[in-house]
Amino acid sequence: MRIAVAGAGLIGRRHIEELVKSPHASLASIIDPTPEAGALAAELGVPHYATLERALADDRPDGVILATPNRLHVEGGLTCIAAGVPVIVEKPLAETAAGAKQLVEAAEAAHVPLLTGHHRNYSANMAAAREVISSGVLGRLVAIVGQATFYKPDDYFDVGDGWRRKAGGGPILLNLTHEVNNLMALAGDITAVQATTSSATRGFEVEDTAAMIFHFAGGVLGTFMLSDTAASPRSWEQTSGENTSYATYPDEDSYHVMGTVGSLSIPTMRLKTYPGVQSWWSATDDSRIDVAVEDPLANQIAHFAAVIRGEAEPICDGRAGLKTIQVCDAVQEAARTGAVVNTGIS
Ligand SMILES: NC(=O)c1ccc[n+]([C@@H]2O[C@H](COP(=O)([O-])OP(=O)(O)OC[C@H]3O[C@@H](n4cnc5c(N)ncnc54)[C@H](O)[C@@H]3O)[C@@H](O)[C@H]2O)c1
Repeated sequence: MRIAVAGAGLIGRRHIEELVKSPHASLASIIDPTPEAGALAAELGVPHYATLERALADDRPDGVILATPNRLHVEGGLTCIAAGVPVIVEKPLAETAAGAKQLVEAAEAAHVPLLTGHHRNYSANMAAAREVISSGVLGRLVAIVGQATFYKPDDYFDVGDGWRRKAGGGPILLNLTHEVNNLMALAGDITAVQATTSSATRGFEVEDTAAMIFHFAGGVLGTFMLSDTAASPRSWEQTSGENTSYATYPDEDSYHVMGTVGSLSIPTMRLKTYPGVQSWWSATDDSRIDVAVEDPLANQIAHFAAVIRGEAEPICDGRAGLKTIQVCDAVQEAARTGAVVNTGIS
């Protein structure tokens, strides 16, 4: 499968690296108006295009990974869909739920695969966790506890005009999106949220810490703690070991999923289940599911190639990306108003 990458910035270059190595797909072209992107295309011996329209017209790829700035996601996604070319749109699918809905509806009407680039869906740990849950080993799901707590170094905030200290630059907008997508992949749709925030530690205009309650369809409840100022290495990257740019802690968990028969800690993958009648007087059978660390970005490309060939249905489609935006919007509103906010997902 020949896959083009539009937007050769920070994450686009990671996709390019993975495509060059992939046994499942090849890099068709690089689409990005900058001279740096042209130089990279020349180095890799692939065509360089300044616009998506030109690339689709001159050398139609089998698929596109759209890693352009957020504001260009809807426009770029619609261009691929109109040309009938399957596309992974980097997260967030769009800047607004309305934009994401437009994209999803266009893809569904045209029967063109649209995927959202929440690459953690292709984590081997997440795949194993979804399998455990769907196997029924945990019984009926009751609750999920999640955590993304980490310490962003103080100089992280000294960029540009200091936008990371202001509204929109905090962990709810920057970090929560992948977490929400993971939680829904594990426990189903989130229908309502409650949230409260604090900026007491850093003293910035934007939150440094947030506590959330998630109401899942079917009555499952979840709590989630998010902080970028807590010296507690429990972010997904730090616990899963999937991104070696971070120091990793294989003994720490990000999520704990609880059912009526057993519970699973992720990503340590410690499983506890009652062998007989469930009771707090009895001991659980304890085991650990052995999962080798895999690069989710590489797995995402393998999956995309299978979707393009018609051999797989998208694991994280456009609708999943839309739902993630709806939940994150609801979290912001809940934090602002103190109300229980419906996500609009039924
Ligand atoms: N999945 C992840 O974990 C992850 C991580 C980082 C970023 N992202 C997402 O990826 C997207 C890109 O983020 P980034 O950090 O790589 O940004 P970036 O600014 O580093 O890169 C964006 C690139 O897009 C190019 N570009 C701008 N206009 C273009 C156009 N019309 N056509 C083609 N290319 C164009 C720019 O020249 C630049 O090279 C964002 O939506 C971001 O949210 C996802």
